[in-house]
Amino acid sequence: MQAELAELRAALAQDAALLGDEVALEAFRVRYLGRKGILAGLFLRLAAATPAERPELGKAIHGFQAEVEARLDAAKTAVMARAESTLPPGFDPSLPGRGPWLGRRHVLAAALAEIVDIFRGMGFSVADGPEVELDAYNFEALNFPADHPSRDAQDTFYVDDQVLLRTHTSPVQVRYMEAHPPPVRIVVPGRVYRNEALDASHAAEFHQVEGLYVDAGVTMGDLVTTLQQFAYEYFGRQARLRFRPHFFPFTEPSAEADMVCFGCGGQGCRICGNTGWIEVLGAGMVHPHVFTAAGYDAEQVTGFAFGMGVERIAMLRHGIEDIRLFLENDLRFLSQF
Ligand code: PHE
Repeated sequence: MQAELAELRAALAQDAALLGDEVALEAFRVRYLGRKGILAGLFLRLAAATPAERPELGKAIHGFQAEVEARLDAAKTAVMARAESTLPPGFDPSLPGRGPWLGRRHVLAAALAEIVDIFRGMGFSVADGPEVELDAYNFEALNFPADHPSRDAQDTFYVDDQVLLRTHTSPVQVRYMEAHPPPVRIVVPGRVYRNEALDASHAAEFHQVEGLYVDAGVTMGDLVTTLQQFAYEYFGRQARLRFRPHFFPFTEPSAEADMVCFGCGGQGCRICGNTGWIEVLGAGMVHPHVFTAAGYDAEQVTGFAFGMGVERIAMLRHGIEDIRLFLENDLRFLSQF
């Protein structure tokens, strides 16, 4: 038995010298220390030995086991050291890893989608129209006569006399009614352009969601409740919408709606120009001239329309103080939403 152990020891030295990688390490562990391995066999024989043989044999087998374990540990350390030495210089495997970089929707795209979704829930469907628009749709059919001063309220980028970048999504009202008989219940999300001086609340390029609801007997009450319901759903139950009389050529009567300023809660601050309110949309009852221009019988139907500024609405919701942030593509801003 002692002679056999001497042979095993010699074999062990040879085996251990060949331990070059993790696969070999594991094979070695199983071969020597596994449940059916060499040591397990030796211990079985120890159990079968006579009481006289046992003390010395036990000592020899335990000595062999310690040697196996020491060789395995040494080989393991050597394999790991070699793996580390193949790392590129400056690579520190103890640093935490970089997480995967997840993209997300732009805050404005998310606001647009959510606004449209709320109106879908109220039975509106989605329509769209061109951003490069004809004067005939952007102004003329909406009851802005040529050379009328009301055109000056929307500073316009002209391509030529007839063609311009649409200043609002309202021309889609006319385009849609030309192509579809009443009743109509649509929202129109889209980009619009104005030749504005830029500041914290004005951009030359922004987004609107237009709404149009036409049927027999639609009232101003329908308009107010629809928009108030929208405000509840988008901002929560505390949302307060205020309607003020206003003028638009294509609605009569017309109104603008304001929300309580997010900056001061209505006290008046820099963001709201000390009024306590922020204008978020224009609205009104569709003017009979618009129905006529679109080929509808103004005696048969009534309707309401509204156009809301998406940037303004997202600013209110998230407490964003400067409209220019939306277009700067600064990840420190964008990744907050
Ligand atoms: N188009 C108007 C604007 O951009 C808003 C509006 C839409 C007003 C529909 C009334 C009805 O200011």
